[in-house]
Amino acid sequence: MSNNPKTVVNSWNEWDPLKHVIVGRADGCCIPPSEPASDPKIPIDSDMRGVHGPRSVETVAKANLQLDAFAKLLENRGIKVDRPTPITFNQEIRTPDWQHGSMFGCMPPRDVILTVGNEMLEATMSYRSRWFEYLCYRPLIKTYFDQDPGMRHESAPKPRLTGSSYKDNYLSDSISIEERLEMVAKKNFVTTEEEPLFDAADVLRFGKDLVVQHGFTTNLKGINWLNRHFPDHRVHSVNFPGDPYPIHIDATFTPLRSGLLINNPERALPEEQKKIFAKNGWEILDAARPAHNKPPPLCYSSVWLSMNVLVIDPKTVCVEASEVNQLEQLDKLGFNVLPIPFRDAYPFGGGLHCSTTDVYRE
Ligand code: ALA
Repeated sequence: MSNNPKTVVNSWNEWDPLKHVIVGRADGCCIPPSEPASDPKIPIDSDMRGVHGPRSVETVAKANLQLDAFAKLLENRGIKVDRPTPITFNQEIRTPDWQHGSMFGCMPPRDVILTVGNEMLEATMSYRSRWFEYLCYRPLIKTYFDQDPGMRHESAPKPRLTGSSYKDNYLSDSISIEERLEMVAKKNFVTTEEEPLFDAADVLRFGKDLVVQHGFTTNLKGINWLNRHFPDHRVHSVNFPGDPYPIHIDATFTPLRSGLLINNPERALPEEQKKIFAKNGWEILDAARPAHNKPPPLCYSSVWLSMNVLVIDPKTVCVEASEVNQLEQLDKLGFNVLPIPFRDAYPFGGGLHCSTTDVYRE
C-alpha cells in the first residue's frame, strides 16, 4: 500500500489512485423534520416538502444492495473498503440549545469527514439533524488513529446552531426561482456569520489547494476557519450563482485528473474565479447533460448527481450506470468508465462521490 506500512490515512486530491475508502450505508436512514436550515434547501415542488420519518424498509434494502455492490466492485479492484457504524437515527436529539425530532443517516461520508493528507477532520455540519453524524465514523477513525502514528484526528468546533446561525424568514414559498437566483448571486444564503459552519462536501482537494463552496451549508467564517486550520494550504472560496440551492460542491464542479475539471453548465464558475485555474493550466469543460429530467422519489439532490463521479485513478472513473451522457463524455475524454447502478441510493444522500470518503490515495 505504501512504503511506510504504518501509514493508513493519506489523501491529497480527488484523482490519484485510490487504495482505501469509506463507503456509506443506508441503514436506518430518516427524513428529519424541518429545521431552520432545511426548508430553503428543499425545492418548492419537491415531493420531500412536509415529509419526515424513517425511510421504508424496502427503499433501504434497495439502496444497500447498490451500496454493497459498489463496495464489492471497489474491493475487486484491490481497494480496501470500510463501512460506517449506523446509530439509531430515529430518535430525538438535543443539546442545551435545541432539540430535534430525528437524525439523518450515514450514507454520505463525504459530507461529514474531510481527509486532507494524514488528517481526517470532522466538519461542523450546518443542520441540527446532522450534528451527531460523526459518531458513525468514530469506530473507523479510532482504528486508523491506533494503527497509524502519523494520523491526525481533528474535529472542527461543534457549532451552537441556535436561531442566530440562520436568517429569520430567509425564504417564503412565494419567492420565484429568479428571485432565489438573485439572492444566491448576491451571496445571500440561509446561514449567518454567527459561527464557523462547513460541510465537508463543500470542499474539493487539489493538493496544496482547497477549493471551498460558499453557500447554504458553508459560510465565510467556516472557510476562514479552514484557512487558519490548514496554514500550509491555499484555501479558495468559490460560488456558483446559477445554483438556487448551493449545497455541496460535488454536483457542480468535479476535478477528473490533474489539469481537467467539469463544471455544471447551469452553475458556471464566475469568470473572475476561473482565472486561478486558467493561470495554472487547468481546463474547465461543461459537464454533459444529465440523462434524467427528475431525481428519484424523495431525493434531496438534483439531476446533476450525474456528475457526482468517483475517480479511482487518473484514467478510471465510476459513473452512475444510467447516466449515458456523462458516461459518453468521459469515455470520449479517454477515461476507462465503470458504470455503477446507483439511483436507488441517491435519495439517501447523493451519488458515488457523496457516498464515499477517501482514506488513502497514492
Ligand atoms: N446540491 C447538489 C445538487 O443536488 C448535491 O445538485
